[in-house]
Amino acid sequence: MPDTSYHAERFARLTELLAEWQPLWQPMPFQHRRLPWRSTYPGLADTLLSLDDDACTRLQADPFCASPLAEHLPVAELAALVELPELPAEGPGPPAPWAEHMGGRKWQQVAAFVPRMAALPNVRLVEWCAGKGHLSRTLARHLERDVTGLEWQTALCRDGEALAERQGARVQLAQQDVLAPDAARWLTADTQVAALHACGDLHERLIELAAERGSAVSLAPCCYHRTANAHYRPLSQQGRELVAEHGLSLSREDLAMAVQETVTAPRHVRRHRERANAWRLGFDALQRQVRGRDAYLPVPSLAYGRMPDSFAGFCRWAAERKGLTLPTDVDWHAFEQQGQQRLAEVTRLELVRHLFRRPLEVWLVLDRQRRLEEAGFRVELGTFCDRELTPRNLLLRTSRHPSPDWETH
Ligand SMILES: C[S@@+](CC[C@H](N)C(=O)[O-])C[C@H]1O[C@@H](n2cnc3c(N)ncnc32)[C@H](O)[C@@H]1O
Repeated sequence: MPDTSYHAERFARLTELLAEWQPLWQPMPFQHRRLPWRSTYPGLADTLLSLDDDACTRLQADPFCASPLAEHLPVAELAALVELPELPAEGPGPPAPWAEHMGGRKWQQVAAFVPRMAALPNVRLVEWCAGKGHLSRTLARHLERDVTGLEWQTALCRDGEALAERQGARVQLAQQDVLAPDAARWLTADTQVAALHACGDLHERLIELAAERGSAVSLAPCCYHRTANAHYRPLSQQGRELVAEHGLSLSREDLAMAVQETVTAPRHVRRHRERANAWRLGFDALQRQVRGRDAYLPVPSLAYGRMPDSFAGFCRWAAERKGLTLPTDVDWHAFEQQGQQRLAEVTRLELVRHLFRRPLEVWLVLDRQRRLEEAGFRVELGTFCDRELTPRNLLLRTSRHPSPDWETH
């Protein structure tokens, strides 16, 4: 396993690169008729805009492979910096019949997580933000041990306990707001906490409590942008020093980029999404003209299936939501076409953000890793499943504090 300084160096270099190229990856092409960096990097814009549809789709799926952007951006170095080992499973995974009552994908994630969480002997096992306790249940059965799941929704605790009882799993689901001060009582130096896809503030709280109390952690973080802070403050001391040194400032919107993967959706869903995006861009062109202001106007999202049938219908809906009066003689066809043209352009320019997405996610996980290392843990970082199963496939796992008398410090 690579040592601490290896991760510290990787973290430092990623900070430098993210800061250096922030003016290119930060602006969202969707919001800018002309991206601020286009005049400074005309060659890059030309390369992107000349890509055909196939190349574009290929680079969306794998931004680091045979990328024509390598002429302009540090593609190979970014690829090397995000390369992480697959954490080996300890023994076989749980048997397939235990998938009962779980969605197929969730089961596969749980089944991959359980044999890789490196459960320590002789510790109390706790699951953080357990939902119905799918992970707790599988863990309890797999290890034949007691597991306590913490979950704030009473109904989920109740349903989860019923499921556990039916399967004879030794699981207790405790109704607990993990952000409340009394959540600390669940964590001691003799606890190991498992967290699968705990969002921003929820997993940050876990890391802080574990660092304070010496509990071991096996954490697959998720949704870094779900946080009360509008601006990111690194968890680790090294992170705080690095962002100050390199001038990297991340807003909540920037953090959202780390998880905005185009997951492999069925073709009809992708088509629907594309049409919706083209209409949004068509409306954007229209609203700029109607308002006489060349500025983006955010329009709320619409649930799948609630989209009006026509572009004109969509624009009327959006205009109403934004309190805008549309003229009676709008050339709908022309604006719809503008939207389609803009979508082709936006999709290509977005490839710059695709390239920095995984580096940003790895950077955020390294910040969490460094926080735990700074608190005295040994921490392993790697993947626990393929990205096709979930793009949030990174796992941080600690062993106990190296010093046996840690608690007396
Ligand atoms: C993304 S789900 C993850 C559930 C489970 N770990 C899984 O992978 O299926 C997040 C869960 O956290 C719970 N949750 C959200 N805020 C919480 C809080 N403040 N305290 C405890 N649980 C919370 C939600 O009710 C939900 O069940």
